[in-house]
Amino acid sequence: MNTGSSLETVTLALKDSDFAKISTLVHAISGIVLPDNKRPMVQSRLLRRVQALKMSTLSDYVEFVTGPAGMAERNHLLSAVTTNVTAFFRETHHFETLEKVILPALKKGVLAGRRLRLWSAGCSSGEEPFSLAASVMTVFPNASQLDIRILATDIDQIMVEHVRAGKYGADALRDLENDWSGRLFGLPAKEVMRRGSAEIAAPLQAMVRCKSLNLQEDWPMKGLFDVIFCRNVVIYFDKQTQERLWSRFAAALQPGGYLMIGHSERVTGAALSAFSPEGITTYRRH
Ligand SMILES: C[S@@+](CC[C@H](N)C(=O)[O-])C[C@H]1O[C@@H](n2cnc3c(N)ncnc32)[C@H](O)[C@@H]1O
Repeated sequence: MNTGSSLETVTLALKDSDFAKISTLVHAISGIVLPDNKRPMVQSRLLRRVQALKMSTLSDYVEFVTGPAGMAERNHLLSAVTTNVTAFFRETHHFETLEKVILPALKKGVLAGRRLRLWSAGCSSGEEPFSLAASVMTVFPNASQLDIRILATDIDQIMVEHVRAGKYGADALRDLENDWSGRLFGLPAKEVMRRGSAEIAAPLQAMVRCKSLNLQEDWPMKGLFDVIFCRNVVIYFDKQTQERLWSRFAAALQPGGYLMIGHSERVTGAALSAFSPEGITTYRRH
């Protein structure tokens, strides 16, 4: 019995050398740094992939995913190690700034036919882009007749499919306020909770286009954005990768456009000269 459990422990443990290989690969693909304290999380998530692929050991998996035959598996690897925590109207002050300052200033032009483009970069399961859509709809109730689009992107294909489905279960609905519920689902919070799941209102879904995109790779988008939300994403990247991204976001924004970042993030490096701080984790491009 004892022999059996120690054998199991040896087989299931993620060796130092394997964790190093996984960290190197994840960093090379996504810019995400996996510090040693993430090791138990990485180990337990990779064990699920070992089981799904009917492999025997984590070392077999590491050899496979880091080798040429494991290219397709790398999407699953990234899904397994990314953090997807999010919430509707998370860091509410950004949505207030959007509804009270940014969108009203653009209103006249947009009503006259100007394009309005927003980007949720690292959108996870979609609570952020759909909250953006609800804010846009508050200022532009006739959004479907205007040239308004919200791009939502994430490296994790499973998240992209979640956004495209536009359906949310009890977990995502837990802290929903009545006003938010009406704006997102067209139903009072009580009714949404009673049902246990709900679908995002069709006009909001129509505004959001979701695509898979690794922020470290080339961005295919041609036009400039008025607003970029990239919140709680770069926190997992090393400083050099973060600073490269800040500069790329500056270049992807219209002059006068806004970048919103996560509560524990700060724009640093060369991009600082392109932005003025405009409130809590809010930056405006010159
Ligand atoms: C913690 S969630 C943040 C979600 C949302 N922005 C928010 O603040 O609630 C981080 C997301 O960034 C995505 N991500 C991580 N690295 C990425 C990369 N290199 N390119 C694109 N998305 C990435 C993850 O898949 C995950 O869904």
